[in-house]
Amino acid sequence: MCTKRKSAHEKKVRHITEPGNYTNDMKDMNDEKRRMGKDMEGMAKDAGKKKIIIITGASSGFGMEFALQLDKLFRSTGKYACANRPAGQGCGEMWLIARRKERLEKLAKTLSVPAKIISMDVTKEEDILTFCKMLENENVSIRMLINSAGFGLMGRFDKINIEEQLEMLDVNCKALTRLTYECIPYLGRNGRIIQLASSAAFVPQQNFAIYAATKSYVLSFSRALGAELKEKSIWVTAVCPGPADTEFFHRAEKYGSTLAIKKLTMVSPERVVKEALRDSFHKKALSVCSLPMKAFCIITKIVPHGWILWAAELMGKKKGKTDVG
Ligand SMILES: NC(=O)c1ccc[n+]([C@@H]2O[C@H](COP(=O)([O-])OP(=O)(O)OC[C@H]3O[C@@H](n4cnc5c(N)ncnc54)[C@H](OP(=O)(O)O)[C@@H]3O)[C@@H](O)[C@H]2O)c1
Repeated sequence: MCTKRKSAHEKKVRHITEPGNYTNDMKDMNDEKRRMGKDMEGMAKDAGKKKIIIITGASSGFGMEFALQLDKLFRSTGKYACANRPAGQGCGEMWLIARRKERLEKLAKTLSVPAKIISMDVTKEEDILTFCKMLENENVSIRMLINSAGFGLMGRFDKINIEEQLEMLDVNCKALTRLTYECIPYLGRNGRIIQLASSAAFVPQQNFAIYAATKSYVLSFSRALGAELKEKSIWVTAVCPGPADTEFFHRAEKYGSTLAIKKLTMVSPERVVKEALRDSFHKKALSVCSLPMKAFCIITKIVPHGWILWAAELMGKKKGKTDVG
């Protein structure tokens, strides 16, 4: 044996025979065996069940884009990438949720994956109960839950109709929490949950106070949930986009307008969703699209939030408005 190969061989023998290393290698192998065993168990449990993806807020914006991009993934690869499973074991049906039924019907017609249209208001208890019955009756295994239903309102807290602000809490926080809770029992191993938070979650924001607070809730909840569900091999990703070109602003700017600097960083929903899916497939807890938002995320971890609020106030004054988002 040449000296180079001999020393490599000796190194390997030394590695195995060192008591600590040998035990660690065996532990790794046993962990892998256990994981594979659990995967097989999970697959056996899912056998015969309809594999579904659930998307809320599918009538517009990010929700609609998730449906289109996931459908494209099926068409191009013939498998549901998120599930890491071979063809035929992918998604059997997409469940599209929103209030505007005609929009969902139009979307469903463009998809190659069969779609179930669920026209419901996520804040209504009776609608949630009907949805729960559907889950129970249809023998489903959820591959992916995407909570995209949500809205924002810009403007001063004391100038916005309180009922609308409470509705924002209901849709962005309460409904998202409830739907996640009801879906977890049906999520199989390697399942995914994608929660639409926002870059507004990183720091309190004047003139966007309740919205930013709801998104902080979504971010905090999703990260903690991800840590809890890891042992079940269910992976949670909180998506934190900055401003994106969707119908979001139609309602958000009813009482106030956004800062020009925010509009400058506007990205397309296609880009946000593409990155969110990639991050979810890679089991990432956080998905932040675009360089400015990544930088913003880091800044909010370093700079005191009081300073950021002060800077936003200055920018608002410069614009000559008090109700800027
Ligand atoms: N666009 C942005 O700049 C931006 C940035 C960061 C985060 N986000 C977040 O991303 C998510 C999606 O927003 P988007 O930009 O896609 O806005 P969008 O185009 O306005 O879509 C919002 C979706 O939520 C649904 N929805 C609202 N209230 C509902 C309710 N009570 N019951 C059922 N569905 C309801 C709407 O459907 P119906 O009206 O048909 O019910 C619609 O499909 C939201 O959570 C938003 O906060 C958006």
